[in-house]
Amino acid sequence: FSANASDIDLAKKSTINSILKRGELRCGLDSGYMPFEMTDKNGKFVGFEMDMARELAKAMGVKFVPVNMSFDGIIPALLTDKIDIITAGMTVTQERNLKINFADPMIVVGQTALVNKKLKDKIKSYKDLNSPEYTIVSKLGTTGEQAVKRLLPKAQYKSFETETDAALEVLNGKASAMVYDLPFCAIFMAEQGKGKLFFLDKPFTYEPLAWGIRKGDPDFINFLNNFLTQTKNDGRYQKFYKKWFES
Ligand code: ARG
Repeated sequence: FSANASDIDLAKKSTINSILKRGELRCGLDSGYMPFEMTDKNGKFVGFEMDMARELAKAMGVKFVPVNMSFDGIIPALLTDKIDIITAGMTVTQERNLKINFADPMIVVGQTALVNKKLKDKIKSYKDLNSPEYTIVSKLGTTGEQAVKRLLPKAQYKSFETETDAALEVLNGKASAMVYDLPFCAIFMAEQGKGKLFFLDKPFTYEPLAWGIRKGDPDFINFLNNFLTQTKNDGRYQKFYKKWFES
């Protein structure tokens, strides 16, 4: 048997092969996105997606290696082979999907709004925020930012590097509202929002979150999708879901 050029090409592109060879699964994330990826007081990365990614590394028999970076740098890091997979609560958008592949969605979320309590009588729907008298905040490079620009073009917009800084701007009354993914907003509201914010919790976008990998790698996509189907049906997914979304 001798390998031909296309076999060699394929082996070079196989992320599974390089993960197994290295003995590491390098996961690109951006900590702070509750309850998917956070940093605990010991500096450990925890959350729903971190549990799923650890489980994935275990299934591959390799070490879980979290690589924390800014959200807008994650796709470039994947494309330059700094990481093997994006595990960052990333929404599948058509624009991103032209650059990378996504496994089957892990969960579906949508944009919601955390609004300063002072605006309680004026803002009944996110649409009411579409006015130059309001300043909306979100996180740089996210679908929250895209939603504001697309759906609330008349409002003023300010971008933040982290979710928490954006939310605090609203809490402190320096901005009117934050537009962001529902799970984050729900947790921030419950933890710090009482008496200061109100939550427009009906999602106004459709956003499947999925793991991202480089294009042209059907072996890895196949492995990931079968892993997801398996964990969704054998109790593991459910266990992590309960732990992070229902407690
Ligand atoms: N789902 C949103 C997006 O894809 C926000 C994700 C933020 N993720 C993070 N790890 N901070 O744009």
